[in-house]
Amino acid sequence: MEVLPADQFTFEQLTDAYNQTRVDYLVPMPMNVARLREYAHVYDVNLPCSCVAVAGETMLGLGMLGLRDGRSWITRLGVLPSGRRKGTGNAIMTWLIDRSAQNGVDAVWLEVIKGNDPAHRLFRKYGFSETRDLIVARRPPGVDTGFQPSPIASITNLNHEDALILLAHRRQPANWLNQSESLQNVRNLSALQIEMANGGKGWVTYHAGLLQLTRILVEVIQGDPVEVTANLLYALHDRHKRQDAVTENLADDAVWQGFQAIGYFESFRRIEMIKPMKSSRGFLPRR
Ligand SMILES: CC(C)(COP(=O)(O)OP(=O)(O)OC[C@H]1O[C@@H](n2cnc3c(N)ncnc32)[C@H](O)[C@@H]1OP(=O)(O)O)[C@@H](O)C(=O)NCCC(=O)NCCS
Repeated sequence: MEVLPADQFTFEQLTDAYNQTRVDYLVPMPMNVARLREYAHVYDVNLPCSCVAVAGETMLGLGMLGLRDGRSWITRLGVLPSGRRKGTGNAIMTWLIDRSAQNGVDAVWLEVIKGNDPAHRLFRKYGFSETRDLIVARRPPGVDTGFQPSPIASITNLNHEDALILLAHRRQPANWLNQSESLQNVRNLSALQIEMANGGKGWVTYHAGLLQLTRILVEVIQGDPVEVTANLLYALHDRHKRQDAVTENLADDAVWQGFQAIGYFESFRRIEMIKPMKSSRGFLPRR
């Protein structure tokens, strides 16, 4: 087996290998070429620092590395079911951590779905520790939770640029998926800012697709986090009655309780894990 840089492969080959590694996955997440390209763009995946494990002509597995200032992110890691437990996962992890060290990052990040014991053990073996649980949640359109909105002083609609400014001033630590760097790579974000009669204040940013609302992130600036969040989301879904909604990697906190009050339910949980690195800053290869 040898490990080769992923930029020696086409997106078609990478997509095919990725899908084969996930045929028996806990949560089905098939990719097509366009989605994998978009994913690599939004999350700053660096293909020369990502890798594919091969034996002759056969692709055995792959792993991708996102690179940002001072940190890296391991993603899309997988080994074909027929080739597991033979050291391929180890070889891919070693490659990705070596590339992270060469780039002088302070920490390597990743997430693992709760209940994925083989991957969780693999990451612990490489020195990753759990930082927090992250929730992936959905809400179908037309849910009636009986929620009664509080008196509102004002609701302001904001555009993409305004949404990015709000996101840049978040107080809560963001996961890789929701960091400003990711959201700057997404087109057409929107935001709503709310001021409640009782002084509560907050905002929600989101992407409104034809069928689905995604990238829904809430920040409460003042007031009761459950109440402000629920009122923001009530206003959001009042404006987008027909779309399904998905939100990824929410912390398990009072804001999440506000999501639940408006009909969001948990699909699954990820565990965020971080490995601190002692390396110094260095060269960042081109994407
Ligand atoms: C997780 C995965 C990549 C491991 O690949 P692999 O090639 O089987 O891993 P290796 O043979 O190199 O084993 C490396 C370590 O992983 C852990 N591990 C792998 N499979 C395991 C299993 N079935 N049970 C427990 N630990 C396991 C062990 O710590 C092992 O170290 P050890 O050999 O010293 O015990 C593979 O199971 C996989 O592709 N799973 C589906 C996709 C996935 O879960 N990706 C991760 C998403 S976060």
